[in-house]
Amino acid sequence: MRPAQTTPVVTGYSPRMSDLTFPEGFIWGTATAAHQVEGGNTNSDWWAFELKPGTPCKEPSGSAIEHYTRYPRDMALLAGLGFNAYRFSVEWARIEPKEGTFDQTQLDHYRKMVELCRKSKLTPIVTLNHFTLPQWVADRGGWLSPSIVGRFERYTRRVVEALGADVDWYCTLNEPGVVAFGGYGGGFPFPPGLVGAESWQTATAALVSAHKASRAAIKALRPAAKVGLTNAMQEWESNAGGASIVNYARHLMEDVFLEAAKEDDFIGVQTYTRAVLEMPRAVGIAASLALSIPPLEKLVVGRVIARQRAGGGWGVSREPGVRVTQMGWEYRPQAVAATVRRTAQLLPGKPILVTEHGVATANDAERVEFITAGLKALHEVIADGIPLRGYVHWSAFDNFEWASGYAMQFGLVAVDRATQERTVKPSARFLGDISRANRLTLPE
Ligand code: BGC
Repeated sequence: MRPAQTTPVVTGYSPRMSDLTFPEGFIWGTATAAHQVEGGNTNSDWWAFELKPGTPCKEPSGSAIEHYTRYPRDMALLAGLGFNAYRFSVEWARIEPKEGTFDQTQLDHYRKMVELCRKSKLTPIVTLNHFTLPQWVADRGGWLSPSIVGRFERYTRRVVEALGADVDWYCTLNEPGVVAFGGYGGGFPFPPGLVGAESWQTATAALVSAHKASRAAIKALRPAAKVGLTNAMQEWESNAGGASIVNYARHLMEDVFLEAAKEDDFIGVQTYTRAVLEMPRAVGIAASLALSIPPLEKLVVGRVIARQRAGGGWGVSREPGVRVTQMGWEYRPQAVAATVRRTAQLLPGKPILVTEHGVATANDAERVEFITAGLKALHEVIADGIPLRGYVHWSAFDNFEWASGYAMQFGLVAVDRATQERTVKPSARFLGDISRANRLTLPE
């Protein structure tokens, strides 16, 4: 139940009901990921994936937005806009370019980024792995190799030792459900590009173990640091026929990782849209039967993967004319509140951080609208007593959107890649002002 709104009893004072104030100390940030912004990540599996013959990638990442060298000005820009946090990732492929060889220059580089964050009054939220693997790890089987867990743990230790006491928030893995389904299930273009129910499940298990090992390593070195993972979550909807497949997919893509995060300090929730699955009842019954019999389960999973690969996405029942983003996803800003609520239902009392929420659009007014609707819905979540600690927008800058390349505009700040000039969009000022005021003022 929603607690009653408290209205101060002061004569002559009428609170503007359109002002939504957020809890004190609320985190307001923007996010990037190393491979998407740094440029020249030549030692990584994604670099090779982008350049291989017949690659599904629209274009290579190349020099990206040169954040690797331009981060001081980029961070100054973000701090100047009014944000109080910055989520970025450190790049395993740079830090450990060969098995067991750690590059001190790279560790120093990230240490400087953290120091600059602190000086700029931006709380650093550091992600240890945002999709990319060093090529040597990929060559040894990537997330299918049992050794990856120990390797990731060793890498975690080196990073945490190097970054020292300045990092209070760590995300171990970014969206492990996406890595497993994309790269090992065949759900969408992602290295290593394997297709199959078994490799999907093996990778899932390794990602779960790697998260736990990494968390333990961080906690051993920095007991006070808050550790979590970030989970890609959809607002799922289905009719009775689609329910069994939705439950299956949601279990493997989301719930497995929420379960793995039970002992975490916080859960990172990342939501962009809604997935709707409607199926005839008879098909639903057949699917639910098949899903309970392992050999047949593979058939169902195969169909789901095939549909996804054919570009059908999850939503087989999209209403005609539904508004979509540049990514082709349903425009659904309030989906984030649904996933935060679900997380809170499964892990009551666990602090939650929205570690990504955003929209790919060329129309920046649409982004302002997206942020407004998302924050309005999240404010209700907080009013209902759910411990939401912050909101981090994806993304700070227009950047390399993986296989979709540079055409997708998720940024609050535009980047001209020919000149590397940054242009602040109105949405950046809009969200920066909300951060400064810790308040969203809705139009009367
Ligand atoms: C990822 C980002 C990506 C964004 C938009 C998330 O899945 O963490 O790397 O750019 O969504 O697709």
